[in-house]
Amino acid sequence: MEGRPSLAPAPAAVTVMVVMLSTLSCSCCGASSAARAVAAGRRPVILIPGAGGNQLEARLTEEYRPASLACRVWPPVRGRGGWFRLWFDPSVLLPPLTRCFADRMTLYYDAGADDYRNAPGVETRVSDFGSTSTLRYLDPNLKLLTGYMNTLASTLEKAGYEEGRDLFGAPYDFRYGLAGPGHPSTVGTAYLQRLRLLVESACAANGGRPAILMAHSLGGLFALQLLARSPLPWRAAHVARLVTLSAPWGGSVQEMLTFASGNTLGVPFVDASLIRDEQRSAESNLWLLPAPRVFGNTTLVVSRGHGDGGGGNRSYSAKNMTQFLRDIGFEQGVEPYRARIRPLVEALPEPGVPVTCLVGTGVDTVESLVYGDGGFDEPPEEVVYGDGDGTVNLASLVGPIKAWSDSPAQVVEVVELPKVSHSGILNDRSALEQIIRIVDSINLNATSYQPS
Ligand SMILES: *[C@@H]1O[C@H](CO)[C@@H](O)[C@H](O)[C@H]1NC(C)=O
Ligand SMILES: *[C@@H]1O[C@H](CO)[C@@H](O)[C@H](O)[C@H]1NC(C)=O
Ligand SMILES: *[C@@H]1O[C@H](CO)[C@@H](O)[C@H](O)[C@H]1NC(C)=O
Ligand SMILES: *[C@@H]1O[C@H](CO)[C@@H](O)[C@H](O)[C@H]1NC(C)=O
Repeated sequence: MEGRPSLAPAPAAVTVMVVMLSTLSCSCCGASSAARAVAAGRRPVILIPGAGGNQLEARLTEEYRPASLACRVWPPVRGRGGWFRLWFDPSVLLPPLTRCFADRMTLYYDAGADDYRNAPGVETRVSDFGSTSTLRYLDPNLKLLTGYMNTLASTLEKAGYEEGRDLFGAPYDFRYGLAGPGHPSTVGTAYLQRLRLLVESACAANGGRPAILMAHSLGGLFALQLLARSPLPWRAAHVARLVTLSAPWGGSVQEMLTFASGNTLGVPFVDASLIRDEQRSAESNLWLLPAPRVFGNTTLVVSRGHGDGGGGNRSYSAKNMTQFLRDIGFEQGVEPYRARIRPLVEALPEPGVPVTCLVGTGVDTVESLVYGDGGFDEPPEEVVYGDGDGTVNLASLVGPIKAWSDSPAQVVEVVELPKVSHSGILNDRSALEQIIRIVDSINLNATSYQPS
């Protein structure tokens, strides 16, 4: 964390702890790990992807109002009951089609129902639930999200796992999130129920052995909520361990950039403002804004000459998020954020099952932003970088870990992966080796494992 220019004070007391709980009491440490894993009985693994790693299909009904002629005819759908791939289809990179894509992806907050819904006339679904194929479909020629969970799933297969037997995938509609107590979230809650049933059937098909939930990025937040919303005896019986890869426990500062001026994720030729409204509309993006309990009073965004006349600066910390949403011109997000999301991110409940958090560090990560005279519609004048995995700040990656490890009942391990990026954690050789080592040790009932 040192050696980088910083506008803001460094996040308070961030320490990466590698908590080694109890000593390894393994009576058979000499044998080959694969043989021992088989002897102990493999725990089924359920892969829960991050936002971009899900595949989403759409179907247009009569209610659909195309924004342009292009949207009326694209894509040509033959058969398949009218379903076509909505996320991710590289053709949306063509400007006239970006608009159709953005309109169809947009969610609406229905204040009366206190819930989110699709755009009128757009039905969506997640295909192949339970299979990992849906997490491995992406075109390897596409730089964005290359291969996604391909390498990780193949690495598990090389270690003896088999698709459909003890290896499963749990994709979801990543635009939707979950809400704090008392607020409905129909789509997100239905996903948790589907995931719960998948965990149960995976255990049942594997001699009753509890499963390993292996979640990337946003998937870690869903996995934590699944656990928090399930009775403790259920967790003990069904989940051997939660393994999170780059989980953004406290959101990320980069998300404020997404909300303010749009974020093309580095894809060239895409007009950020075209997709900004769509990105703002996703409930899960509100969920990923920096959380007050992790970022505290730290200034994350400064807006200079905010039209106040006096050239006064406005500064925003995570605690100013509703004001930030208002000031960037996204009034519609204020109430759902305040009522639904903030209570959710302020409580990071203990998982109640052993947890291993793998976190990439040492990659430049947006730590604060300075907006100039052009306001929030223009790209920031200055971006200050700090420690993290390139997407998620270190403070967020390790956010709740201190509190969890203070709890006597909660087993927590943190594995730091220097120079491993947010998505690189799914491809990087040393990361994959660590993941396999962790899976082996879980299969051996070890309470901890030995980093190499
Ligand atoms: C944050 O700001 C509030 C109000 O300005 C103050 O009461 C609180 O002590 C500050 N917290 C930290 C950690 O600085
Ligand atoms: C406003 O913020 C900028 C950038 O952080 C800084 O250089 C400037 O001194 C600030 N101005 C005032 C009046 O605080
Ligand atoms: C953010 O909150 C702090 C503390 O409450 C306040 O002093 C500051 O003016 C707020 N910033 C904005 C832009 O509202
Ligand atoms: C490993 O844990 C399972 C339950 O998770 C238990 O049934 C089994 O007996 C344990 N095996 C060893 C060798 O401790």
